[in-house]
Amino acid sequence: MNNSAIGVFDSGMGGLTSVKELSRIMPNENIIYFGDTARIPYGTRSKETILKYAEQDIAFMKKHDVKMIIAACGTVSSVLGMNKNAAGDIPFTGVLLPTVQAACAKTKNGKIGVIGTAATIRSGSYGKAIRTIRSDISITGIACPMFVPLVENGFTGRDNPVAKLVAEQYLAPIKKEGVDTLILGCTHYPILQDVIADYMGKDVELISSGSEAAKYACAFLTGKDMLTERTEKGTVSFYSSDSVDMFRENAQAFLGGQLCGTVTKVETEELTSLA
Ligand code: DGL
Repeated sequence: MNNSAIGVFDSGMGGLTSVKELSRIMPNENIIYFGDTARIPYGTRSKETILKYAEQDIAFMKKHDVKMIIAACGTVSSVLGMNKNAAGDIPFTGVLLPTVQAACAKTKNGKIGVIGTAATIRSGSYGKAIRTIRSDISITGIACPMFVPLVENGFTGRDNPVAKLVAEQYLAPIKKEGVDTLILGCTHYPILQDVIADYMGKDVELISSGSEAAKYACAFLTGKDMLTERTEKGTVSFYSSDSVDMFRENAQAFLGGQLCGTVTKVETEELTSLA
């Protein structure tokens, strides 16, 4: 048993898709979430910058009493690759491995699509991770750089003409390949799930990287006997490097309801002093 919190971080709000699932499947766990909203997007930056930010985010998480750290960010996870020791002696997972395991288990025709930020697709990490599980899979990866600004600006409704047009432009080559499984390799993308699903059709299974990371963490903590022994509902403490009010307001779309918990501002100077 371990009553410490689970630490989750992302470049912004996308990692809240992981928090939503963690709270659903492990309601008694305490969660500490950090969204680096002052420095989002990560996905358009160089590998070196993303690695530096990731190091600082992990160092920030380690300042708290956490028993596991989840990088609920497709971009950070892809740049770190399959590095399981990114947080030193604290158990760590990105979204990469949990997501590809789920996708490989789901696909029937062996054709998987991957969408993510420019840095994620450039890294080729999802493809490499898939091949460690199954070498026979055909993979089509497409960067969708306009999806994150669409989500951040609330252009997400299934009838939103801009979102529909952008989705069609990005997803046409993947649809043409006949994939039956599509990895939403960026934790922002489940907010566009309806738009993406409508375009891809009902026979294509969408895999949410944030949710899969949460399920993976649950299985890991259960296997190591590290779940909390608390019987009451856990708390979620949020940290944001930009406006706390904006964080509160935007979080609702990701959490599927009102944000319950404290939101504390983190100065960027604090992050840069950590690593
Ligand atoms: N949530 C980030 C990810 O999963 C996307 C936003 C960004 O570009 O920082 O890749």
